[in-house]
Amino acid sequence: MLSLSMGTDEDWTSRLALEDLMVLPHFAFFKGRIIPYAEARVGVLTHGLNYGTGVFSGIRGYWNDDEQELFVFRPEDHYRRFLESARMIGMQLPLDQAQLTAALADLLRREGYREDCYARSLAFYADETVGVRLHDLTPEISIVAMPYGRYIDKEEGAHATISSWRRVDDNAIPARGKIVGAYVNSALAKSEAMRAGFDEAIVLNRDGHISEGSAANFFLVRNGVVLTPPITDNILEGITRRTVIELLARECGLTVVERSIDRSEIYVAEEALFVGTGVQIVAVTRVDHRPIGTGRIGPIAETLRALYFDVVRGRRPEYRNWCAPVYAPDAVLTETASARP
Ligand SMILES: Cc1ncc(COP(=O)(O)O)c(C=O)c1O
Repeated sequence: MLSLSMGTDEDWTSRLALEDLMVLPHFAFFKGRIIPYAEARVGVLTHGLNYGTGVFSGIRGYWNDDEQELFVFRPEDHYRRFLESARMIGMQLPLDQAQLTAALADLLRREGYREDCYARSLAFYADETVGVRLHDLTPEISIVAMPYGRYIDKEEGAHATISSWRRVDDNAIPARGKIVGAYVNSALAKSEAMRAGFDEAIVLNRDGHISEGSAANFFLVRNGVVLTPPITDNILEGITRRTVIELLARECGLTVVERSIDRSEIYVAEEALFVGTGVQIVAVTRVDHRPIGTGRIGPIAETLRALYFDVVRGRRPEYRNWCAPVYAPDAVLTETASARP
């Protein structure tokens, strides 16, 4: 029988309180140098803070205990998208991909993390001035990193809902880039879902097709075929999405079909998944109180999760080029740039 478990306000606030326990970084890369985190401050008039005029990236580092090494997953691809996102809003960054990667490496070595962590890079217009625009402004870059675990508690079986909010349209704010201001759209969807007792939102685009989660790309398995929305359906061009497409092809012989997905296809799917740097690989086992497939994690999600965590921790030599070591004596935190789709 389907259970209708609507969360109370109390559940919702206690979940938020858990997020408040996040450990703050010790250092920040800010204005071209590494300084104590507490000294990396901006004024309240900062343009990026007032108008969301910035771009960002989220990169995970995975600790490999056997090798006593921290592996950063696909930093070059993340910084390539970071630079592309900046170009979409006409922002010229003072650092290139190699310099950003080097700054991240320096910061991580300074922090000295020996556990899984998450690095947040941000480029924002730093001028303390009033006036909505994207020209005649000065960009600033910050990078911070902190220990980080799960983004969604129930990675093995999340309950999602179709959001009443539509995904930001590429003609409104470029959807394929990580533009700061656009994340109000994601936040509206996420909070609506959590307040209603769900773990995550599935957001439709303006055509009514599935776009993605609030901060994750979406995959569906129907009649044995793995589907994901195409990059022209207002999705973020996700790096985990590309990783998953490649892993499914190479390791499982499954070709992912990129096509628009209707809402009702979810309800009759065998499996559904969220994938992203933050969420990692999440099995969606219920949507709007309906079980997906058996209502438990399915074989593709299970296989993919095991594979993914081996790959990101540097345990699969074939994919080692995606993992950039931080502490190896000769490490320059570089991965072999992978081919783009
Ligand atoms: C809106 C949105 N979609 C998808 C993703 C997944 O992208 P990636 O796999 O590059 O982290 C993210 C970021 O985590 C996101 O913020």
